[in-house]
Amino acid sequence: MATPANSMRSTASKVGYWVDQRLPISSLWRDHMSHYYAAKNFNFWYYFGSLSLLALVIQLVSGIFLTMFYKPDAAEAFASVEYIMRDVPFGWLIRYIHSTGASAFFLVVYLHMFRAMLYGSYRTPRELIWIFGMLIYLVLMAEAFLGYVLPWGQMSYWGAQVIISLFGAIPDLGFISGDALVEWIRGDFSVSDATLNRFFALHVVALPLSLLMLVLLHITALHQVGSNNPDGIEIKNNKDATGKPVDGIAFHPYYTVKDLFGVGVFLILFAFIIFFAPDGGGLLLEHDNFVPANPLVTPAHIKPVWYFTPFFAILKAVPDKLGGVIVMGAAVMVLFFLPWLDRSPVKSIRYKGWLSKLALGLFVISFIRLGMLGMGQGTPAQLLESQVWTIVYFAYFISLLIIPRFESTKPVPDRVTSSH
Ligand code: HEM
Repeated sequence: MATPANSMRSTASKVGYWVDQRLPISSLWRDHMSHYYAAKNFNFWYYFGSLSLLALVIQLVSGIFLTMFYKPDAAEAFASVEYIMRDVPFGWLIRYIHSTGASAFFLVVYLHMFRAMLYGSYRTPRELIWIFGMLIYLVLMAEAFLGYVLPWGQMSYWGAQVIISLFGAIPDLGFISGDALVEWIRGDFSVSDATLNRFFALHVVALPLSLLMLVLLHITALHQVGSNNPDGIEIKNNKDATGKPVDGIAFHPYYTVKDLFGVGVFLILFAFIIFFAPDGGGLLLEHDNFVPANPLVTPAHIKPVWYFTPFFAILKAVPDKLGGVIVMGAAVMVLFFLPWLDRSPVKSIRYKGWLSKLALGLFVISFIRLGMLGMGQGTPAQLLESQVWTIVYFAYFISLLIIPRFESTKPVPDRVTSSH
């Protein structure tokens, strides 16, 4: 019988059909959702890919609204942020979503990267997924740094001063010199309005665009080879008569539902921080940044936000400025090479020996401890401890080359094991 509901449904399906003839929507949905098979034993660590995506969307949307009221002008920037906080309806909420969102983004991305290290997800054939991930990480760091300068508080100004001046450590090589590079980045002889303007342009247009494109490449590369799993085995090697991996389940609905649960938990924790501790006691928004930028007064203690402090501690651990910049740069860049440094015959930590587990454990402790030291005052004892943990940090990458030479691994099963 032709009820109004039925005729609306058939109109909708006609429109759907019309669009589908012109845009590959249903085939995209099929290939990447309803018929994309992922191993059935994804565990806790697999929440953080979709949560990284959510964090990106939260930043983009809240950023668009902030941009409607923010003024990228050294004389007005600080006041415009105060205006957003006090006078714009729900401006405080949008600003805290964005500032807390930056920390949440790094937290989920760090956990996402750790998952790859646990299960060897960067190894053949997933090297490109990892490379795109690392490029995302680099752009994300630049994006966060530039964003932190925009409120034009004391820490914005002096943080920019310290970080840009790091480029000054490059000696005069004839075709380029550190000093010239610093001036070129600032666009002036000191951090100024010109610096703020270019940082704004990069923060709101160039880098978000790069992030989006890199995320697209990251996921395209992932879907080309298929996801890894906690056992580090290839589910594509074991298919049933219809060509479906026997250990695979369709991404939609199984993992969309699982990921939705993760989204729910994340949003509850996120809202809790935004409403009850938006500055995280100075960890997420530093107290000095509630004071307008003053080029004549240096804050007593210049330090970056928590997600940069492990690298900041490494920078300070090396007594020489150029040496510090090189070692700090190496601490990030060495991660790019993980797919080729890890020589173990097995991918997942589950089937590696106790020495590999100890090495990964020490690496995590070194990263966390360096993060804590990077927030400190930089006393001689803290610098000494940072040097020790810097050595532990780099030793991990060497251990990946050496340990497999003598460590015996456990046999890897043919089928995935239950999730635990
Ligand atoms: C904006 C940031 C990022 C987004 C939105 C993102 C998104 C995703 C998504 C949705 C997945 C599939 C689901 C999953 O396996 O959890 C994934 C997988 C993966 N990502 Fe990312 N990612 C981001 C950053 C990174 C970074 C920084 C790295 C490492 C440097 C990385 C490395 C990987 C690897 C190796 C996989 C494959 C995991 C597997 O197959 O088991 N990702 N990513």
